[in-house]
Amino acid sequence: MVRSLLADWYSRHGRHDLPWRAARDRWSVLVSEVMLQQTPVARVEKGWARFLALFPAPTDAAEAGPGAVISAWGNLGYPRRARRLYDSAVIITRDGWPQDLEDLPGIGRYTACAIRAQVDGANIPAIEVNIRRVCERVEGRRLTTRGAEATFARLGRGLRGRDRLLALMDLGATVCTASDPLCVECPLRRRCATKGVLVGETRSRQARYEGSFRQCRGDVLRTLRAAAEPVSIVDLDDKALCSLVDDGLAVVKGSTASLP
Ligand code: ADE
Repeated sequence: MVRSLLADWYSRHGRHDLPWRAARDRWSVLVSEVMLQQTPVARVEKGWARFLALFPAPTDAAEAGPGAVISAWGNLGYPRRARRLYDSAVIITRDGWPQDLEDLPGIGRYTACAIRAQVDGANIPAIEVNIRRVCERVEGRRLTTRGAEATFARLGRGLRGRDRLLALMDLGATVCTASDPLCVECPLRRRCATKGVLVGETRSRQARYEGSFRQCRGDVLRTLRAAAEPVSIVDLDDKALCSLVDDGLAVVKGSTASLP
């Protein structure tokens, strides 16, 4: 295969030291991708190894129960993901890994394709936010997911499977960044229609945490995690507790609440 500028860039500047990049088993990669869906890399770097030390395989998470998995999620945020990960662990333990990973709770098209590319070396595109930005800037227009997948395949010639995915992802995360692209360092600059920020590009930002309902839920969940005994519900925010119960993150028995 002819080596490409992107392949050279990736071998020199890719984020090869991220801890989950050394993992090759499906469960470890699944956990990393679920954590990285909504939590910054720096926080996942701390949380991923700790979580896998407690639950090295899906059977460990399934046997430990939902409360232990939610508790181990720590401060990664968006804890519904912990519940879905536990539910996935139960399914995998009972039935084995599904043919289509999208059949697992909380696993969408990107995550399913990213796991197959990284673990099985499948030569399939996977479009997440950084990769979409690279593809759209190179093309000079907004793209559908299918359009971005076609661009992904074109830009990634010279690389396959896992390396192709991670090269485009790392380029988006470190060079073709949302607000400050470093075009002089970009191996794709000669083929790039935009050479900078695409006009009309939208930035997805997480809503403010301070003072939000999410913070209120986080406070209640932290209290339940820290408590050795079930907590009296009069000491907890009512709406936050109800929504945690709806999401399978808390249970109420009589006048007390606890992790499930
Ligand atoms: N390595 C593999 N998948 C990743 C992701 N989603 N974010 C950052 N690094 C990764």
